[in-house]
Amino acid sequence: MAGHRPTLDAACLRWGGSGRAEEGPVKAAVYYETGGPEVFRYEEVPDPTAGHGEVLVRVEAISIEGGDTLNRLGGAIAHAPHIVGYQCAGTVLSTGEGVTAIAAGDRVVTVGLDGSHAELRAVAEPFCWVVPDGMGTAEAACVPVPFGTADDCLFEFGRLQPGETALIHAGASGVGIAAIQLAKRAGATVLATASSGGRLDRLVELGLDYGINYTADDFVGEVRRLTDGRGADVIVDSIGGSTLQKSLLCLAYRGRCITFGDAGREAPAKLDISTMRANNQTLVGYFLGAELFLGPRAHAMIAGLLSDIASGALTVVIDRRFALEEAGEAHAYIESRQAFGRVLLVP
Ligand SMILES: NC(=O)c1ccc[n+]([C@@H]2O[C@H](COP(=O)([O-])OP(=O)(O)OC[C@H]3O[C@@H](n4cnc5c(N)ncnc54)[C@H](OP(=O)(O)O)[C@@H]3O)[C@@H](O)[C@H]2O)c1
Repeated sequence: MAGHRPTLDAACLRWGGSGRAEEGPVKAAVYYETGGPEVFRYEEVPDPTAGHGEVLVRVEAISIEGGDTLNRLGGAIAHAPHIVGYQCAGTVLSTGEGVTAIAAGDRVVTVGLDGSHAELRAVAEPFCWVVPDGMGTAEAACVPVPFGTADDCLFEFGRLQPGETALIHAGASGVGIAAIQLAKRAGATVLATASSGGRLDRLVELGLDYGINYTADDFVGEVRRLTDGRGADVIVDSIGGSTLQKSLLCLAYRGRCITFGDAGREAPAKLDISTMRANNQTLVGYFLGAELFLGPRAHAMIAGLLSDIASGALTVVIDRRFALEEAGEAHAYIESRQAFGRVLLVP
């Protein structure tokens, strides 16, 4: 069976649009080199076109993902000028040959490795979801990456069970806000970290049971105290570096720690895993893109989350909106650590 599995490499993991055929008046927030928020320029870029199996979307809301700020700071540049961005939503203008489930006029939310910070985006159909009736396009723009990642980390890879304890790092982040809600509705006790008490207070109505202000208290000691010394059964770690090392020190017997980000912006951790074997613990790396690329399961999981948000069972938190030409200001606002939930760009 393994021999029939598609391989995941840079060439085939191109979720984004195809070649750009003609010059046009499309505008985008671009950069020519990585760095601080000041690298953004607001410029005309060539029109994207919908190639085979792709849809062309007029972008109406761009959710700035944690990975977008990291990529702008030091990620790979696919094209110069480079259009950064994983996730945005809008209305389909046209579809390429072979597109079956999406038509012009549909509202869709899209993900890709880059290209969201623009007025138009071409995306392969498997990386699009039709926005459910009654759901705002701006809300939908905030769903697939954070909610899909949170769901997979907690359940597909973390195997969280009712009655267990989950520790969510960066509770006020996009993934954190999704994970707190999902863990709570699954019947877990929910612990989360954040950089201030005010941010933790706002998480209570979303399902937080115990908040830990890691700038004031050592989170390892707090997790142990709050769990009567047992530790957390599942840890959702978007921070990496020294935080990931500490996560392993407050993991319960048979606990599962899922590492999926480096939001702490430290050098990659050299981990001491010597405590794990005696405690029958698991450390899992996670990448949503691989799950979306390699099979239909994750797409269906995210479609279910969109329905849950449309029905009001889960909540999207939008902090502020900026115009697309203010992409630099929006990224700077996020990096000031004031954002609670998602910051949007509007073309
Ligand atoms: N592997 C995957 O498939 C996948 C999917 C989604 C996201 N990710 C990764 O997960 C991470 C979080 O994504 P997100 O969208 O949830 O991020 P986000 O909404 O931008 O939030 C990031 C949070 O990290 C915390 N943080 C801790 N140290 C920080 C620092 N030095 N600088 C800035 N923020 C810091 C901040 O909260 P406090 O101030 O409260 O600490 C901030 O709210 C990113 O690294 C992203 O690339 C990976």
